[in-house]
Amino acid sequence: MRKIIIDTDPGQDDAVAMLLALASPEELDVVAVTAVAGNVPLPLTEKNARKICELAQRTDMPVYAGCSRPMVRSLFTAEYVHGPTGLDGADLPEPTMPLQSQHAVDFLVDTLMRSDDGEITLCPLGPLTNVAMAMIKEPRIAGKIREIVLMGGGFFEGGNVNPAAEFNIYVDPHAAHVVFASGVPITMMPLDVTHKALATPHRIAAFASLGTAAGHAVAGMLDFFDRYDMDKYETDGAPLHDPCVIAYLLEPDLFSGRECHVAIATDEGPTIGMTLVDWWDVTPGEPNAMVMRDVDADRFFALLVERIGRFGR
Ligand code: RIB
Ligand code: CA
Repeated sequence: MRKIIIDTDPGQDDAVAMLLALASPEELDVVAVTAVAGNVPLPLTEKNARKICELAQRTDMPVYAGCSRPMVRSLFTAEYVHGPTGLDGADLPEPTMPLQSQHAVDFLVDTLMRSDDGEITLCPLGPLTNVAMAMIKEPRIAGKIREIVLMGGGFFEGGNVNPAAEFNIYVDPHAAHVVFASGVPITMMPLDVTHKALATPHRIAAFASLGTAAGHAVAGMLDFFDRYDMDKYETDGAPLHDPCVIAYLLEPDLFSGRECHVAIATDEGPTIGMTLVDWWDVTPGEPNAMVMRDVDADRFFALLVERIGRFGR
């Protein structure tokens, strides 16, 4: 059993990752969900996080709102991918469960400082602003965190915002620098691996055929989410980025990669937000992340459908 905190900017793929985690109580104890500005502004990401908790019938889940903008840069959002609501494709009701009043950064600091060393795993699925700000506010939390399993970055695959940078890192490269320099064990799911987990029409149909509210919502979200990347990459499905983080916690052998040194480009210019992954170990920097590059996509989607199928049996 792993205690995890999901830090997220829902986002259709974040939503599927949250559902995967909430469908797996035997393996994962989701302590809380913290929302950050990213795909859409914070008022929407926190509301979307609550919508997904309600879809999972987890109105008890503490949801916290965190930072409304990156540490240094101004906020860059991705409505062009996710739609104006951030969850286009799923017609979910307005949430009635409460948003916690404490700021997510303070929640992260308080909860980690009260926890035993190595008790909690952080699962950032969006820009790393909340996690970095918590580390700056209370540096001692770095020694408390068991592992950070995050979606972000890209190397052989390049970026998705531009040729250099992946969205989560591009939005807040300074936060990413803080996290990758923190010394906390990191497992990184970059575009190199998530672009091998494509939500093809056949795979989306498997969610629809579940005949449940959750299955219908996931199929609708992925059908919408597919469009942008399928046109851009001319593939038969969009990469299902964020669920890779949770699937790794459930079935780590779905993935393979190697320990690498990862540096973040933070200078303003065409490479800002680039993750410099030393895959060939040619620089003196010590490895600071397990960088995943391959996934068994069929087994990944089989896990997803089986777990999402647990809702509304
Ligand atoms: O680049 C993909 C990442 O950016 C995903 O986490 C997606 O949800 C967006 O946050
Ligand atoms: Ca995300």
